[in-house]
Amino acid sequence: MKTSRIALSSMMLGFGTVASAASPSISRLMPRPAEVVAGSGALSLENGLRAASAGPADARLERALARFAARFARQTGISRPATEGASPASLTVRVAKASPGLPSIDMDESYELTVAPDGAALTAPETWGALRGLETLLDLVEPGPGGLSLPAVTVKDRPRFRWRGLMIDSGRHFMPVEVLKRNLDGMAAVKLDVLHWHLTEDQGFRVESRRFPKLHQKGSDGLFYTQEQVKEIIAYAADRGIRVVPEFDMPGHTTSWFVGHPELATESRAYTIERKWGVMQPAMDPTREEVYRLLDGFIGEMAALFPDPVLHIGGDEVEGHAWDQSPAVAVFKKAKGLATNADLQAYFNKRLAQIVTRHGKTLMGWDEILHEDLPKGAIIHSWRGPESLAKAARLGFRGVLSNGFYIDLIQPASEHYSVEPLEKDAANLSPEEGARILGGEATMWSEFVNAETIDSRVWPRTAAIAERLWSPRDVRDVADMYARLERASRRLEWLALEHRTGYRRMLERLAGPAASDADVEALRALADLVEPVKRYERGGTREYTSLTPLNRLVDAARPESDDARELSVLTERLLADPARRNGREAIRSRLEAWQAGSSRALPVIARSPLLEDAAPLPAEVAALAGAGLEALAFLEQGEPAPPTWFTQRASVLDKPHKPIHGLEVAFRPAVKRLMEAARGQ
Ligand code: ACM
Repeated sequence: MKTSRIALSSMMLGFGTVASAASPSISRLMPRPAEVVAGSGALSLENGLRAASAGPADARLERALARFAARFARQTGISRPATEGASPASLTVRVAKASPGLPSIDMDESYELTVAPDGAALTAPETWGALRGLETLLDLVEPGPGGLSLPAVTVKDRPRFRWRGLMIDSGRHFMPVEVLKRNLDGMAAVKLDVLHWHLTEDQGFRVESRRFPKLHQKGSDGLFYTQEQVKEIIAYAADRGIRVVPEFDMPGHTTSWFVGHPELATESRAYTIERKWGVMQPAMDPTREEVYRLLDGFIGEMAALFPDPVLHIGGDEVEGHAWDQSPAVAVFKKAKGLATNADLQAYFNKRLAQIVTRHGKTLMGWDEILHEDLPKGAIIHSWRGPESLAKAARLGFRGVLSNGFYIDLIQPASEHYSVEPLEKDAANLSPEEGARILGGEATMWSEFVNAETIDSRVWPRTAAIAERLWSPRDVRDVADMYARLERASRRLEWLALEHRTGYRRMLERLAGPAASDADVEALRALADLVEPVKRYERGGTREYTSLTPLNRLVDAARPESDDARELSVLTERLLADPARRNGREAIRSRLEAWQAGSSRALPVIARSPLLEDAAPLPAEVAALAGAGLEALAFLEQGEPAPPTWFTQRASVLDKPHKPIHGLEVAFRPAVKRLMEAARGQ
């Protein structure tokens, strides 16, 4: 599925033009810049590239240029003038005002980049824009007939939304510092600017508290970030123009706090770190002053540790059972005139907001905290639906959208890409209200990812979300996005992310140390055709706890099967124009290969205990491919398939209920389309 130039230029009409002879790297930039005009010719890089700052002293920019030089050398193999005396191409970076402080919600990330045959210039009002421009520049480097070069181009770029985040849940599965760093590098490459760091959960309290050390000592299994590590991450992120917004989720999702501090809970008893997944019942006690005293001390400590002005207090999924069971809570509600648990949570949030404000921070929380009593500066983080975002904006609050950007639900990139923060309920907002919608965030909840697999769930799909939040609204051609996503995915791995290499490593481990390359290939061919079950289905397929190793085929399998997507594209094309013989052949050859190849994985599966639960998959693949081939034969004859055929074959279209392997054959929808077309023609 390669981008056609025609599709590209018509798509670009709204916000700029790309000459029809634009170089491939210009047309494949991701995220697509606000304005791009292709020039003629190219800047040769055969003698290297010397990048220098021409603006005011700027230590952050110098560090960025050093990283840029290292990546450039690694990407191109060119590190110094190739021949004695030859002069390298020059890149002049001019930042009007250096940004020595931390990235902020108001930072200016705009930049202009001009590449001409005699040199390149990158200008930006602030250092942040220069960081973004350097990423664009690396994305433009391409090999050509005359060697490596940068295509002549003028880019004028700026983000559409100021809040472009990735949430990483370190609570449910701890993510080591290296994992965060490589994901911060990936975020910078696609121009994301907020790491929302979910640090406390029922299953783990992950930050060192010097004031209340029992919190992390008893609540983390020893897996927590020291304050030095937190500072290291914040500095690493800041150098990449990324803010770090911490989340301390309360009053629910707090079991791990209670292991060391049971007095915080409505029910004071012995607690252990939660191992199961789901919405847990323990909750903080909003009636007791000592709870607010501890929170005041803890938030004061965290407010000093995390310099970003925004502090996320969670607030999601408090079902209130623990409160319903507490006589003290009942008395308190009555005394305060709080009719419902939602009113009680609003009371808690109001107290919390006072604490957060006193420590100089802006309060942010999930939709559940939306209430007129919140301070007007508060930021509502929408996970349940876009309605609360629009409602918040009308009430004068700012908002960030995550509904639709839940990458843990294993949906295709195209679904996230189609989510538009200013659509649906937000479409009728006044300009002033609309401006309160700050952007969005991909959320990587970690029930089913650990340090080994997280990259494969974050990337490359998050690059599509990053484009939604950075690029102009009319950048929305899905086929073009996928063509660029593949390139972006490869480039992201060069930053030490492991979403592609991890796949191979896990398949080899699943096949076992004695497996041959052919065995691993057979398993890969099968794995290429399946996807993990979607949304919240996986939890129902077998018993999972935080101690379950995530080392099965479902963990190796990628969220989106390229093979299946390609088959869907071919199928839609064929059904739109049934006379296309080539189209039929392309489908047939794939289905035949999958049918024949599926049994090759059987011996590998039979030998490997880790693959035990995958045993039914080859037969499922073969049956679906077989039904697809029969449908294709009917389509070729041009006669409707007999109803009895459809009835006999229809069962292949039923997805297994709660499959223990947690996987689904990804090309089932395409086969369904073929079978229905064969029946109905
Ligand atoms: C959430 O997904 N409970 C914020």
